[in-house]
Amino acid sequence: MPNATPRKILITSALPYANGSIHIGHLVEYIQTDIWARFQKMQGHTCYYVCADDAHGTPIMLRAQNEGITPETLIEAVAKEHQADFAEFLIHFDNYHSTHSEENRQQASEIYLRLRDAGHITTRTIEQAYDPEREMFLPDRFIKGTCPKCGADDQYGDNCEKCGATYSTAELKNAISAVSGAKPISKESEHYFFKLSDFEEMLKGWTHGGHLQSEVAKKLDEWFEAGLQEWDISRDAPYFGFEIPDSDNKYFYVWLDAPIGYMASFRNFCAKNDVDFDDFWSKDSEAELYHFIGKDIIYFHALFWPAMLEGAGFRTPTAINAHGFLTVNGQKMSKSRGTFIKARSWLDHLNPEALRYYFAAKLGHGIEDLDLNLDDFRARVNSDLVGKVVNIASRCAGFISKRFEGRLSPRIAEPELYKSFVEQGSSIAQHYEDRDFGRAIREIMALADQANRYIDEKKPWVLAKEAGKEQEVQDACSVGLNLFRALMTYLKPVLPEMAENVESFLNAGPLNWGTLQQPLEGTTINKFKPLMQRVDEKAVEAMLEDSRETLTSTHSNANTVDNTQNQPSKKSSSEPDTTSVEPVAEEIQFEDFAKLDLRIARIVKAEHVKKADKLLQLTLDIGDEQRNVFAGIKSAYSPEELQGKLTVMVANLAPRKMRFGVSEGMVLAAGPGGKDLYILEPHEGAQPGMRVK
Ligand code: MSP
Ligand code: ZN
Repeated sequence: MPNATPRKILITSALPYANGSIHIGHLVEYIQTDIWARFQKMQGHTCYYVCADDAHGTPIMLRAQNEGITPETLIEAVAKEHQADFAEFLIHFDNYHSTHSEENRQQASEIYLRLRDAGHITTRTIEQAYDPEREMFLPDRFIKGTCPKCGADDQYGDNCEKCGATYSTAELKNAISAVSGAKPISKESEHYFFKLSDFEEMLKGWTHGGHLQSEVAKKLDEWFEAGLQEWDISRDAPYFGFEIPDSDNKYFYVWLDAPIGYMASFRNFCAKNDVDFDDFWSKDSEAELYHFIGKDIIYFHALFWPAMLEGAGFRTPTAINAHGFLTVNGQKMSKSRGTFIKARSWLDHLNPEALRYYFAAKLGHGIEDLDLNLDDFRARVNSDLVGKVVNIASRCAGFISKRFEGRLSPRIAEPELYKSFVEQGSSIAQHYEDRDFGRAIREIMALADQANRYIDEKKPWVLAKEAGKEQEVQDACSVGLNLFRALMTYLKPVLPEMAENVESFLNAGPLNWGTLQQPLEGTTINKFKPLMQRVDEKAVEAMLEDSRETLTSTHSNANTVDNTQNQPSKKSSSEPDTTSVEPVAEEIQFEDFAKLDLRIARIVKAEHVKKADKLLQLTLDIGDEQRNVFAGIKSAYSPEELQGKLTVMVANLAPRKMRFGVSEGMVLAAGPGGKDLYILEPHEGAQPGMRVK
């Protein structure tokens, strides 16, 4: 499928913060983007994929201070670590830079000055919490105290992890600075604001101009309704960042120069590779520009960023491609469960391409969260990649090598079958283009099943024992290897290293959609080497064990993934809550619904679980048997009030091994969480064991 009109495409992933390691949640994004970039390159387009470390901000400044090093030394070390992790996950950036770079300083200043000169910047004095000991203003996440709602100690400035309440830092009781322990005071300071509402009309048009996924556009409508606020783009010293050109010791807020880092990284690339920057960024550019991001940072990318670009006279993005968040075994990544898995821990125990494959199989074009279920991961990789795809080659290669000196049949014996595999390539390519990787993988695996069926029918291992069947053996195995070649071509964006090994095995040039048109006929293959090992359950366990260990030695307080730097502060409402984009549930068929075995259950026993903050252990009576279920409803119920109640459970959910024991089902509850969580209670008359229809 060579492309008649080559496109010019610039692709970015969000810039990871330079204050922590890459973890498998991040990898959803970098793997998704890398697959898409590799696919575009395979189609013959001019395509560049750039990224950088996001190096500025208070957390990075403080971490460097704690470690007794300069922020520059810290971000340099982290940059090395990040890039090593990415490289081993086969994420190929055309350029990887840093927001703390000369290119970015210049670009940020230029954009700011253009916005200022066009009248889009204003200043005003605001009041903020201030640490009198450390002599610095305190972002909410660096203030701790007692929750005004439930009384839990040691809670962050604007929300309580125990009860889920949100509040302003002023409401927090016994507030202290998490930096020094001092009692914060309130202090005034002048801040610079970007007048986002100047761009309201432009943004309304842009967000409905086909640049966003529909569920994201809907979320933006809510934000428009709430009203666009001015955005605070300055921070007071001490701050690790760029000084605002015309200011007195004020710095750009990290989120101002972060997206500009996309441009800076590309500028750095252009200088090294003699590529024209303006071709991609000028107002009349015909190139395409795509930003891949997580759903937590939509506000920054779909509102502030296009407005800044427009206001400064640059082109706006072709599309923002947002994805959902990763959960592990159905739950938020958690340090205590060992599911806060760093890229490095994965690499120490498991194959990076296996994770690429699993994510690809689960990714669609929407913003639903995706789950890495480790049992499912192992089963899927072993059955699809090892059992189906690699199996085709290993069943055929031996015969060709041993009996035909590696030579394939001079003519393909099943031209129609081969042709159907080639034709399927257009539809698979379309799914890649649409970022429906899961659909692409499903089609590829259906072809793999077909190829295996063909070999099962031909039975070359039987033919090989019969006299006069030599040609048939060579033909069957040559067809098998040609079908395998098509499959590996389609999997190449996902499995680049395996594809490379297959290229040297097949010995017939790079795998590509275009070259598939011509089957391999009469060519000679090289010796077959195993392409992928089965995923071993022990390796998965060892990785989880390691993840548990490495984390006890870090200084972080939070026990689940900490993305608080992206949590907009509640008091300056210029950065609304971007984390609440609810995935829209996909439509299902009646058969899907009918698979659920929902039963009325009586809670015969409810108990606390040692060391679990959120779980209660329930014993449920469903008529003919009792089930043990761990339910995350501790924030809303005491065991006493649950005992004896009727509720509804999913009775045919596969049992799940948890740290505390095996959970044999799930109870249904509704609500946002925390205290606002309500289990479903059937009307009187319902009996335990009744099926819900
Ligand atoms: N530095 C900002 C981005 C600036 S872009 C101009 C940032 N950094 S981050 O390190 O917190 O996240 C980088 C990317 O990884 C974001 O797109 C974020 O949504 C994504 N993810 C972080 N954790 C994730 C999961 N658990 N699951 C999926 N994606 C996740 O935000
Ligand atoms: Zn609370």
